Amino acid sequence: MSTVNIIDFVYLISAMLFMLGIKNLSSPATAKLGNKMSMCGMGVAILATLASPDMFGYTMIIIAIAIGAAIGGYAAVKVEMTSVPEMVALFNGCGGAASALVAMAEYNGTAPDAFAGFTIITLLLSIIIGSLTFTGSIIAYTKLQGIISTRPITYTGQQIVNAGILLATVVLAYMVFQNPANGLAFYAIILLALGLGVLSVIPIGGADMPVIVSLLNSYSGLAVSMTGFALNNNALIIVGSLVGASGLFLTKIMCDAMNRSLANVLFGAFGAVDETAADTGEGPTGSMKGFEVEDVAIAIENAESVIIVPGYGMAAAQAQHVTRELGDFLIEEGIDVRYAIHSVAGRMPGHMNVLLAEADVSYDLLYAMEDINDDFSTTDVAIVIGANDVVNPAAKTNPSSPIYGMPVLDVELARTVVVLKRSMNVGFAGIENELFFKDNTMMLFGDAKDSIQKLFTELKG
Ligand code: TAP
Repeated sequence: MSTVNIIDFVYLISAMLFMLGIKNLSSPATAKLGNKMSMCGMGVAILATLASPDMFGYTMIIIAIAIGAAIGGYAAVKVEMTSVPEMVALFNGCGGAASALVAMAEYNGTAPDAFAGFTIITLLLSIIIGSLTFTGSIIAYTKLQGIISTRPITYTGQQIVNAGILLATVVLAYMVFQNPANGLAFYAIILLALGLGVLSVIPIGGADMPVIVSLLNSYSGLAVSMTGFALNNNALIIVGSLVGASGLFLTKIMCDAMNRSLANVLFGAFGAVDETAADTGEGPTGSMKGFEVEDVAIAIENAESVIIVPGYGMAAAQAQHVTRELGDFLIEEGIDVRYAIHSVAGRMPGHMNVLLAEADVSYDLLYAMEDINDDFSTTDVAIVIGANDVVNPAAKTNPSSPIYGMPVLDVELARTVVVLKRSMNVGFAGIENELFFKDNTMMLFGDAKDSIQKLFTELKG
């Protein structure tokens, strides 16, 4: 067996570790193992690459590894759970930029007439997708971080301009395909792709950024895969395809959970619609009622069944541990307690599952929306902890609402609904919630962690 064959075999092992890792990530019970497997897969792939016969410049490589590991390690330890989407956006951008740079180095280091047709196509795709992923991810990061406005930035003829840039890129790519020595066209492609990344993400509202981050993640995988074809590197082809496919599936899952098409997310300028919705003058009817901890505690201790509904506010308040303590206490008191999970609650896929798993809530108590929605009508108390959009009945009743059609948790059907939040502020979609004005809703204002702690003390007392 030649060294190249051995290295390809090791790459195969690494790819298998990645696939097993992704498989294990699909359940909270095995997610940690999945992470470790993927980590090993990456370690094995790096070692195999370092052992390749055509490797040189180890000093620079070691310096680069040290810098990358320091940044990655620092981010893993320091970044708050609520800022993970921003971090993923930045890392996606780096992935796209790395693919484009490697493809550029390959273009510069190879005699133009040595490019086979297929190689130049994959090289061009890598440059285009990698460059637009880089700038698109930077815009997504700045929107999520609030550095630029989260509102969609739109102007007349925007889609025609974007289509024009895309067309010009394709024409230039064809020119380079015909004549790989055409360096001017090659670098013009990079500029246009960088611009396209910016222009295609600015019209998308902040509320849709997690979907865009997932889509850009898929793009970065595609770019890596194309670089793999250009360099004839099997590890890059397999891993890039895995990232590309899983990012695409995740994007689809998120769109389905919001009952929106990908085209609507990309071109619908969601968020700009809010202003028109507000102008209709349609607002919630009824009156909002704020309650004290003592009143809420009485409602809960008289209940036989409770469904806890966590949302972004639970993550922001880091209230997952006290939530579990409250749930466990109610179970000990003989109350039937379950947790209802909406797939886009929070700010990233699986956000609530991850937090509740971290707090050691038993997996058997977690129910996906479709498995628990029918039970709200026979439940005594629904405790909504920092959730807003995912429990907004307007998604079912108000056709002019921007979230109309999004499947939501039917919490208002419970006998009593307790809502824990700090104020009457809107959620991520920026719209009012008529749930807070319903007769059977008790609002308990305050930081979620603080309110649960007080509730817990009152119930124990
Ligand atoms: P949101 O609708 O964003 O509402 C969160 C609520 O938490 C806010 O109204 C806020 O009200 C409250 N809050 C914030 N900090 C708090 C604290 N410290 N203590 C108590 N409450 C606090 O959350 P959601 O219901 O989870 O919905 C998620 C939204 O994100 C949806 O619109 C969804 O479409 C969108 N989204 C999610 C994803 C993924 S993958 N999860 C992807 C794309 C879009 P106060 O300020 O009054 O406290």
